[in-house]
Amino acid sequence: MENRKQNSALRDSINNSPWQEAADFTGDKLSAGITETSMIYDFLVVGAGITGITTALFLQRAGLSCLIAEARQPGFGTTGGTSAHLNTFFDATYPEVESDFGEQAAKLLAVGGKEAMAMIEHFVKELDIDCDLESKSAWLYAENENETKQLQKILEASQRAGISVKPANENLVPVPFDSVIRFEGQGQFHPLKYINGLLAEFIQLGGVLQDNTRIRESSFEDGIYTAKSDSGVIRAKKICYATHVPPGVNLMSLRNAPYRSYVLGLKLKDGNYPDGLAYDMQEPYHYFRTHVIGGQPYLIVGGEDHKTGHDEPEGAFQRLKDYAGQYYAVESVVYQWSSQYYVPVDGLPYIGQLPGAEGTFVATGFNGNGMIFGTLSAKIISDLVLGKDNKYASLFSPSRMKPVAGFTEFIKENADVAWHFIADRFSSSHLQALTDLKSGEGKLVDFEGKKLAIYKDDAGKVTALNPICTHAGCIVQFNAAEQSWDCPCHGGRFDVSGKVLTGPATIDLEMVIISYDKQP
Ligand code: FES
Repeated sequence: MENRKQNSALRDSINNSPWQEAADFTGDKLSAGITETSMIYDFLVVGAGITGITTALFLQRAGLSCLIAEARQPGFGTTGGTSAHLNTFFDATYPEVESDFGEQAAKLLAVGGKEAMAMIEHFVKELDIDCDLESKSAWLYAENENETKQLQKILEASQRAGISVKPANENLVPVPFDSVIRFEGQGQFHPLKYINGLLAEFIQLGGVLQDNTRIRESSFEDGIYTAKSDSGVIRAKKICYATHVPPGVNLMSLRNAPYRSYVLGLKLKDGNYPDGLAYDMQEPYHYFRTHVIGGQPYLIVGGEDHKTGHDEPEGAFQRLKDYAGQYYAVESVVYQWSSQYYVPVDGLPYIGQLPGAEGTFVATGFNGNGMIFGTLSAKIISDLVLGKDNKYASLFSPSRMKPVAGFTEFIKENADVAWHFIADRFSSSHLQALTDLKSGEGKLVDFEGKKLAIYKDDAGKVTALNPICTHAGCIVQFNAAEQSWDCPCHGGRFDVSGKVLTGPATIDLEMVIISYDKQP
């Protein structure tokens, strides 16, 4: 690989995505505001990704006083690691949504996808955001008879929902296919340049961005939320967790499962970059698109997703490279990065008020469609906060009953959670592992009766952490590709010194001091 482990401070990953190199949130224009601890804001947004920033902008424009509290920097989480496809078809397919929620729901979902796409286009035009936004067609292809049957159902249900899609004769990418369909009106953009533009407008309107502010806990009393961070207290009348699942153990952490997704940015020998978006139907799936960065086109290839903490990330990168190499003349792998998303139990996101917590809003379970659902969430939540009707609110309501079809998946995901609570705690490793550890490697070991997460850095220094996740007590697993400790239960992630990278955990892993006997 040419690059690219440069600046882990800009994202929840040691591997740079191409977006973070081109986006600067530290310029004068975006300097963080100062929190007035005596002030009671109308609205506090936790998390400065696409969801939080767009929501805050809508509400600031409506005349509310808003503060965004971001644990690190804007785009540090999934917005900085997305592959930035903009689609009106989703990981939950239209036939699945028709079958689980009804035909009207599928139509409404299609309208919502198109509305979110139009909102992004509108903001780009209105605010003159230079973010490489392009309209593209998208090809979805089947590689065998069984997939062709599914593809036919997707075609028909998508058309019934009002999506512009039809059969095609050719595939965008050089992958042999059995059948293929082509969606019109899809898109792609540079996610960090885009949110940078929204943030500039938000701040211009008097909104406050407070970065490096991790909200550790919040309480509600006399109609006011008090959110505590290491640097002080923020007060607001309403609060929105735009952080995937909100902190604490709640309904959202039980109804959404964390997944890692892998992406490569490739230089090709022959310049055969596809002009569009393409997706296969494998499980896990793969996708392709092209993005020009600094005048150089890159083939973006993604996929090989798996549940966080449940597979070997370096293997996923290798499989992805092998897959891309089957179809393209790869000159070099310039970027490789991974990111996290959440799969909702019944296929649709949860957007709206957190059940049983008036004035607390959440937006999560976007699956691999975060740019569109993050944007739609902003519209839904801002309407709810402003007391306006919103036609999507009930479809995505976090209090909706699970359709029966989602139930099996729900049991499966949570059975996994239970397994990790019990089995991982009682598995054993040998202390010998501590001396066997290679540079850049992490392992769980038993050490003087305690289970430890140990890591050796390039200088040979060993760090030991208590591996019990501070969210709800599962045992973290080492992610060699990201040099992080990842929790298999709800996706909390920590760097090798134990600092929280990704919620729902808000407390760092405890550092353990190891004393060594003197060598004779
Ligand atoms: Fe929930 Fe670790 S993220 S137990």
